Amino acid sequence: MTTRREVLAALAAATLGAGRGATAGDRPPPKNEPSERFRPPHKHGMGGVAIGNAFRPTTDEASHAALQAAWDAGIRYFDTSPWYGLGLSERRFGQFLHNQKRDDFVLSTKIGRLLQPDDSFDKPLMWKDYPPFRYEYDYTADGTRRSIEDSLQRLGLGHLDVVFIHDLSPDNGDLGRDWTQQFDVAMNGAAKALTRMREEGTIKAWGFGVNTIEPCLMALKQSDPDIFLSACQYSLIEHEAALHELFPACEERGVSIVVGAPLNSGFLAGVDRYNYSTTIPERFTAKREKLREVAKRHGVDLRTAALQFSAAPRVVSSVIPGSRSVEQATQNAESARAEIPSDFWAELKSEKLIAADAPTPTAG
Ligand SMILES: NC(=O)c1ccc[n+]([C@@H]2O[C@H](COP(=O)([O-])OP(=O)(O)OC[C@H]3O[C@@H](n4cnc5c(N)ncnc54)[C@H](OP(=O)(O)O)[C@@H]3O)[C@@H](O)[C@H]2O)c1
Repeated sequence: MTTRREVLAALAAATLGAGRGATAGDRPPPKNEPSERFRPPHKHGMGGVAIGNAFRPTTDEASHAALQAAWDAGIRYFDTSPWYGLGLSERRFGQFLHNQKRDDFVLSTKIGRLLQPDDSFDKPLMWKDYPPFRYEYDYTADGTRRSIEDSLQRLGLGHLDVVFIHDLSPDNGDLGRDWTQQFDVAMNGAAKALTRMREEGTIKAWGFGVNTIEPCLMALKQSDPDIFLSACQYSLIEHEAALHELFPACEERGVSIVVGAPLNSGFLAGVDRYNYSTTIPERFTAKREKLREVAKRHGVDLRTAALQFSAAPRVVSSVIPGSRSVEQATQNAESARAEIPSDFWAELKSEKLIAADAPTPTAG
């Protein structure tokens, strides 16, 4: 039987073959039906920021051990990016994953920054001891293809499952020009190239990987994404805008959400850092204290509650805490299976610590 993907691949080939000026070539690519959009089938995954030497160095051995521990605990969805440690995170994931059967795991990486060898590049970044590369932003179609080829080389893999357009967002002051100009470049470049790759069957899904909701809402209006990696937007600390604006817009289109930074880059695991900054607004420290008090009364581990809270909405396909050690990877995987009493969630709602309509593992 001919599968839908084979039909789409044939259609894409016909469209390419028709060339410029032909009617078929001018048609927008067919939009994916909501029910056909790819979702990672694993509700709990692992993010690759920490093993890209974020904040402090991590050895190759410790990274490999963390990945092995995650794998042994059943984790099968992994997210990385060329940006994480300027290629280091992808290389570490590749070193581990090339020994696994390709169909046994789902992998996402990102496009948007191209890496060039440069021994003299020494800009202070959140990556420690990073390799001798500089980066430049490129959201064009050519840059997207080049980035994916580079990623595959670093990973030592033959294909990617999901590709996110990375950090094209109003909070990224490093973009060099207004983000909306870069957004237009991406809509005409990366978005079209990725849609075509999906239709050809070389990737399963694409979307944006960003720390604000605006690019996702705009992309839904202007293109045909399948999935967003929404970071720093849906945690126990802050979630209203994602819950009330982004999630309904995604559900309408059958687009799913991967929750990035579910611990607010470690804050909800007790680290003194909030969303990649050591400058922490007092209201968040006070809220964490209140959350801790309720968690203690119910005998609940706050990090576990944070991960389960982010996983609860139907629209969320996966939650991907970052882990840099065996201990973190094991604990985070175990958190997915822990039982949390429904009274805990009820108290968070009655204390107005989470939105009244936020799905919870027991009610949602
Ligand atoms: N724009 C984007 O596309 C975007 C943005 C952000 C994140 N993401 C993705 O989302 C993933 C998750 O975000 P994240 O890693 O930045 O932040 P996160 O998951 O909120 O927090 C990860 C940090 O929390 C600490 N931690 C994790 N597990 C712990 C445990 N069991 N016990 C104690 N501490 C623990 C570690 O801090 P230490 O490192 O200090 O040990 C770790 O680096 C990323 O790795 C990345 O894949 C994507």
